[in-house]
Amino acid sequence: MTFSFCKGWDDGRMDKHFVEQRQTADTAGPNSPLNFVWFRKMKDIFREIDRKSGCIPNLQRLNFLDLGCCPGGFSSYVLNQHKASRGFGISLPLSQGGHKFLLEEHLQSRYTVMFTDLTYFTLGPSDSSLSTLESSLTPNHLPTNNQNPPPLQSLPPQIKNGNFSLVILDGHLLRTQEGVRSWEYDRLLIAQLIIGLQGLKLGGTLVVKLSRPDAVRTAKLLYMLDGLSEAGGLVTCKPRSMHASRGTFYAVARNVGHGQIPVADMLLGLRKLWQDLTFGGTEGCGRFLEEADLDFIVTTEDLVGSSTRDGYLCRLVELARDVWVGQAEALRILLKKKGLNV
Ligand SMILES: C[S@@+](CC[C@H](N)C(=O)[O-])C[C@H]1O[C@@H](n2cnc3c(N)ncnc32)[C@H](O)[C@@H]1O
Repeated sequence: MTFSFCKGWDDGRMDKHFVEQRQTADTAGPNSPLNFVWFRKMKDIFREIDRKSGCIPNLQRLNFLDLGCCPGGFSSYVLNQHKASRGFGISLPLSQGGHKFLLEEHLQSRYTVMFTDLTYFTLGPSDSSLSTLESSLTPNHLPTNNQNPPPLQSLPPQIKNGNFSLVILDGHLLRTQEGVRSWEYDRLLIAQLIIGLQGLKLGGTLVVKLSRPDAVRTAKLLYMLDGLSEAGGLVTCKPRSMHASRGTFYAVARNVGHGQIPVADMLLGLRKLWQDLTFGGTEGCGRFLEEADLDFIVTTEDLVGSSTRDGYLCRLVELARDVWVGQAEALRILLKKKGLNV
């Protein structure tokens, strides 16, 4: 893969390819037929994830939560596969740059969708004095480039009580979103993990989109998901049907709550982190996530094994292999298409 990367970096044709791909995605309006293409692609992606991980629990009744659900391909796949399932989805409103909701009409009676910004729920630690501050904040206390940031709001009641046997976290900051601070990408990821873990039933399945398993922050999150799941419960999936040449992949944690790491400990750490990413930083209006922020999960030394005997690297490589292989294959095909010799 390193070879393919180097070839790609050095060649303007690859750069042009990715610029054009981004332009197509960014300029397709809500009425573009491309939205339907992406909707269908999303179903293909979730089919791949399901085939690899069996992520749709075999229960008589299934309640699932889908964060960043629009256009709705993942939810459509689940509703079609499990005829007694009911879904609850949250996604950014169209007016704020979100995607159009395209779920088929015949499935909508089993689905509720809420259009709101996932990063504006109150998610701080409830036992900390800061949460009083947090709940008293008005939009103006959250200085952003955006003139009218939405007010912080409580989580919808559906999420509060661990209602869901399957939770999907696929919310992804879009380049077209206006007025967002550059660290919203980090806040969105942490917000989804908090909401997802809070909404998940004991023994449920959590599907999370992550990027680059070799990045320290991703490795620490994989360590957490591995420890929350029952032994061997974590699998990774690198879909080939879309974005295969990118470093993104899905982690599927099964039987969450039956692992060695207590969910409550992780939830508390994530809540404190969200608080800091939202109200910390030198100007008190938030900041980027740093690798050391995730030390409450595992320190980098322990992860690589310099202070423990075996660390986590072998397991990490095992989890990352499919992602690297999938990405390398896709890059090789792409380079060939562009006339590059690999
Ligand atoms: C990759 S798409 C998800 C596709 C979806 N899984 C499907 O099956 O159709 C990412 C979605 O996250 C949404 N999103 C991005 N930022 C968000 C935010 N702050 N709050 C809620 N949704 C957000 C986007 O609007 C977009 O619809």
